[in-house]
Amino acid sequence: MITVKNKLFNITTKNTSYICHVRDGKYVENLYYGKKITFPEGADTEAMVEPLREKFNNVYGNTIAAAGEDKNLTLDNLNTEFSYPAVGDYRITSMLLKADNTFSSRFYFKDSFLYEGLYKDSDLTKMPHARYYEETGKPWTLELIFEDEAAGLELRLIYTAFEDCDVITRRTVLINKRDSSVAVRKLASMQLDLPGKDYSLLTFDGLWTRERHLNEKKLISGTYVTESTVGTSSNRHNPFIMIKKNDAGEHAGDCYAFNLIYSGNHKEEVEVSEYGKIRLIQGINDWCFDMELKSGETFYTPEAVMTYSDLGLNGASANCHDFVNNHIIPEQFRGKERPILINNWEATYFDFNRRKLTGLAKDAAKLGIELFVLDDGWFGDRSDDTSSLGDWDVNEKKIGGPLKDLITEIKKEGMDFGIWVEPEMISEKSRLYEAHPDWAVKAPGREVYTGRNQMVLDYTREDVRDYIVDKLSKLLSDNDVSYVKWDMNRHISDAYSSGDCDSGIFYHRYVLGYYDVMDRLTKSFPHVLFEGCSSGGGRFDLGVLCYMPQIWTSDDTDPNERMMIQGGTSYGYPLSTMGAHVSASPNHQTLRHTSIDTRFQVATMGVLGYELDATRLTSLEKKTVKKQIEFYKQYRKLFQFGRFIRVKKDPNLEIWETVSADRDLAIALLYQAQSEPNQSDDILFAKGLEENATYKVTGRQIQISIKEFGNLINMVSPVNIKEEGVAQAMVNSLYAMDGEKEEYLVTGSMLMHAGIKLNSRFVGTGLGEGTRTMGDYSSRLYVIERMI
Ligand code: GLA
Repeated sequence: MITVKNKLFNITTKNTSYICHVRDGKYVENLYYGKKITFPEGADTEAMVEPLREKFNNVYGNTIAAAGEDKNLTLDNLNTEFSYPAVGDYRITSMLLKADNTFSSRFYFKDSFLYEGLYKDSDLTKMPHARYYEETGKPWTLELIFEDEAAGLELRLIYTAFEDCDVITRRTVLINKRDSSVAVRKLASMQLDLPGKDYSLLTFDGLWTRERHLNEKKLISGTYVTESTVGTSSNRHNPFIMIKKNDAGEHAGDCYAFNLIYSGNHKEEVEVSEYGKIRLIQGINDWCFDMELKSGETFYTPEAVMTYSDLGLNGASANCHDFVNNHIIPEQFRGKERPILINNWEATYFDFNRRKLTGLAKDAAKLGIELFVLDDGWFGDRSDDTSSLGDWDVNEKKIGGPLKDLITEIKKEGMDFGIWVEPEMISEKSRLYEAHPDWAVKAPGREVYTGRNQMVLDYTREDVRDYIVDKLSKLLSDNDVSYVKWDMNRHISDAYSSGDCDSGIFYHRYVLGYYDVMDRLTKSFPHVLFEGCSSGGGRFDLGVLCYMPQIWTSDDTDPNERMMIQGGTSYGYPLSTMGAHVSASPNHQTLRHTSIDTRFQVATMGVLGYELDATRLTSLEKKTVKKQIEFYKQYRKLFQFGRFIRVKKDPNLEIWETVSADRDLAIALLYQAQSEPNQSDDILFAKGLEENATYKVTGRQIQISIKEFGNLINMVSPVNIKEEGVAQAMVNSLYAMDGEKEEYLVTGSMLMHAGIKLNSRFVGTGLGEGTRTMGDYSSRLYVIERMI
């Protein structure tokens, strides 16, 4: 709900209030953002917000006085909704414009406009945006209109309130009403000024194979910047960030979360001002951004997302999860369970033929896998990563005939078919490059720098986009394809177009081009499930999720690393968006050995897939995988759409949980990174349950490879088994030891507040029934079912 009373704007959601008002007739002061505050029915709210107004009873030292009646007021210490230079506010600013040879702006409040529904010009932005459905309630939108009379510019701040998930979205719109151009050097989507400075900043950073690791820093004086300059939202720094009061934790305390519905260069800045206030700004990165906004033109910034919760980091994450599942994901995939897939990449890499593919498909189908995904190498003349990107024609020689025939064979096994593409790229060694060298992004006369031997296709050009849409449309209409993995494996470096795009706006126009292609393809093929990918999780953002309901979280499938990658990602994105695969051991990225059950159990917290050579699994492994898939299918809805909670965060032992909406069912994952000798027993806690209900807690039965015990196995084996010997290999392929069986009856309150003291761990003794053998990288799943 949003109310406007004279010049007081009160944006409320289920549990939050965002209040600002016009001060001195010109400025809009932010009065409050946080837990919902209420006013008595019929109260004079304008008078009642007096306690929230910043007081300026005297002049602050050598400050600049704001123009207006209040001669004491300085913008340097006022919480405002946006900012620009030259008015004495020396903090970071949300915009930088140059008109009439000056950087001085004077945007003053003119009017406001309130209506039900989304921002009325959402479609004109040519960017994806949040949506709503009847059951999520119709949002309200507020536009605050400002004018810089001298410059002839209008600025609109747009706020949309999504009540159901405590989210408010923001964007800034600039309209050039003058006769000449204005240079736009920076225009952020949102600014939030908060009183007080006792906050910590949480960012999600990394690189290829280690995306979105959580980093927390206590904010002290100065400015903190998180940004991407690679052309996409990047694996380096995700646009999702959080700030929390220093005393807030996972389950309680004041937390704010921010994100951007945008897939390009972004920037998040947080300043602790000299007056001890927080200013947070988020939007398109102003790095290499220099736009000429011509007379009569409008510039729309991407939609920013913010939420607040007093229920700690988990509370803010829950709001983000609901927002993504209910307002971002394409309608046809909202709440829709996703298939379990097998991807041939780590099984074959580029080295495959018809026999290998169908062999893999046959074995995968027997395990219960539902979708076969053919990865890189099926097109052009591609047998490594040096050629053919852009030539999206099937290599029939390699796959042994038309694609249709391969698909028919796979479908006969009872599986759907999916395919990998990387349509934003061009190889120098390709027919496309021979025909259109100017379609590659490169700077004139400058030596070409490649990444993974490839160049980026110039998506600012319409002819390039038309070519790609035509090629992919043909692929998808000629073949029965139900899933597409859309990859993007290199960063942009020389931001230059041979077309009509100025370099100062290249990065943004590239993103708009990408959205145009995605928009056209997803409208033509709405049934196709697109999974985003960019060298793993290098473009994991809300813009992508508006078209593709899930994203390949990382090329790194090592479960220990995945605890950090999926764990970090979970702060801003729900389980339904995270592709999580079981791969081979030792892992191809880290060479770490882990059990097939740990690989699976960590992957259950996401959208499950397999990415290994199923034909080489031992008969015991096959049995194990079959059971895993049955288990996942039984609880798939919970694993993909349950309420995800980080129950316990300890560097060595974590508990994650997913709980059904009705609290009747939950599954907890307990993960231990390294085994510690002779420690006291683990306690299993859960959250989000019904206090008074009775639950049965059952440990998922796992099996432990005899290899894990080395020669200790001889203590229980009737025959002597030599370590690493043939006998061990044989026994190991057929037999594994049953792990402990644990079952408890508890009330919700017992499990949430006291916890279950689990069976003792193996501590050098106790190699027998009942002992929990928890070595390095070990895990357990506990099913929690409501009985009464
Ligand atoms: C990227 C992806 C991988 C795989 C390869 C294929 O690295 O992240 O999953 O598809 O490309 O070249």
